[in-house]
Amino acid sequence: TTNRDKFRPVYHHTPLYGWMNDANGLVYKDGEYHLYFQYNPYGSVWGNMHWGHSVSKDLVHWEHLDPAIARDTLGHIFSGSAVVDTKNSAGYGENTMVAFYTSASDKNGQIQCMAYSTDNGRTYTKYENNPILTPFDGLKDFRDPKVFWYEPDQKWVMVVSADKEMRFYSSRNLKDWEFMSGFGEGYGVQPSQFECPDFIQLPVDGDKNRMKWALIVNINPGCMFGGSATQYFIGDFDGKEFKCDTKPEVTKWLDYGKDHYATVCFSNTGERTIAVPWMSNWQYANILPTKQYRSANSLPRELSLYTKDGEIYMAADAVKETEALRKDEHEVGSLVVNGESRLEELVPNTDGAYELSMDITPGASQLAGFELLNGKGEKVNIYLDMKENRLVMDRTESGITDLGEPSKFNVHEKETDNHRMKLSVNYKNDFALGTWAPLSLCEGKTYHLNVFVDKCSIEIFVDGGRIAMTNLVFPNEPYDTLRFYSEGGEMKVSDFTVYKLGL
Ligand code: FRU
Repeated sequence: TTNRDKFRPVYHHTPLYGWMNDANGLVYKDGEYHLYFQYNPYGSVWGNMHWGHSVSKDLVHWEHLDPAIARDTLGHIFSGSAVVDTKNSAGYGENTMVAFYTSASDKNGQIQCMAYSTDNGRTYTKYENNPILTPFDGLKDFRDPKVFWYEPDQKWVMVVSADKEMRFYSSRNLKDWEFMSGFGEGYGVQPSQFECPDFIQLPVDGDKNRMKWALIVNINPGCMFGGSATQYFIGDFDGKEFKCDTKPEVTKWLDYGKDHYATVCFSNTGERTIAVPWMSNWQYANILPTKQYRSANSLPRELSLYTKDGEIYMAADAVKETEALRKDEHEVGSLVVNGESRLEELVPNTDGAYELSMDITPGASQLAGFELLNGKGEKVNIYLDMKENRLVMDRTESGITDLGEPSKFNVHEKETDNHRMKLSVNYKNDFALGTWAPLSLCEGKTYHLNVFVDKCSIEIFVDGGRIAMTNLVFPNEPYDTLRFYSEGGEMKVSDFTVYKLGL
């Protein structure tokens, strides 16, 4: 079944059949990573939400299992999180897996519920007294509970998205929850509705004596390029309240593409923080040109904090496990480009699933980059614009870019075009455009790029994830040619290797 869709990724996680959105209940236990996800088992558009389920031992090979939590009389099973109850706080036994999700229906609204599993996450029993939490003010948008253990106070904390803020609750037994604080009203880009929180503590520049809290806030709308995107806030947490380091108007993005959303992290992974994004955008997710299934997850990403010009940022890099996907290796080495250099054989027999690893030194050039092309002349243009100090990925002519009329599923946003990038190319619609990231996040005159191509997606990681950029593309044939080019001077490409990727 897996090869019927020509755009189905080779090495990214997808549901075998049906619709998928957000990653849910990410948790590691006994050597298995559990990836639950917003799932419609009955069709390839949003609806009938269940928690689908896949497991992996290494974050790159996924085994599909039966849906773990099915829709019931309280409504859809919306997004949420899962923990390993090492303290037996809930009373279902030590190391029971406990999941938290939102039940959503017109009748009951959005309410937080709990379920537990005693068979390593295969099946869940719903708590008989659900819901465990309802909004104190009757709020309509109140969902996506993230639960974690807060060691200093020996208590559980839940973060719930509540329209334009995140609300923090605490509990001793995972069943009774007490409101502590709210954060976020007026923070970040506007307008934005908060969804899918995560809240993690990370060392700054790897220094364990300097820990900071990061609040991941997925927003829809609010993306610079239209639709949904992921921002984050850095600050401190005293067990009750989150205090952000920066002014409300400061916005930091976890990814600078247009197809990166609902990003949340695995619990119970020790010192590692591993996030899994949904690789789509609510603007057009339901009308993308696949059939048997819709949507993939991006590569799992390792999160860390780095400082640049006195400001703390979050890096998101492809997890090192991804290296196990490297099959054939083609070492190109170094080349100096002045004008154009077309390399036909660079990505041979890769069938649209490969990784490019290279250092680019723009030198005196003003534009330094490369195009990925196919025999039909469809292309993606990836370049460093040194005048604007930006990394750009332009998919205007990438293949299928006219997706037709947005369906009724894509209407939940009202926004203007004023955030969109002003490039030399004009976007024709929500899909045919370019996205950009500021190179000021990086350190040097040389940029290390890892570019992952997989049938219908391109993920770029610069300098270990200081910049991450994820975009979908739908070429009618795989891109098999690479053309380096520079304008206004010479650029250097070094340590250039092409890997064919496979499972
Ligand atoms: C985010 C989201 C969540 C919600 C889920 C419903 O993409 O809108 O807020 O729980 O999707 O499928």
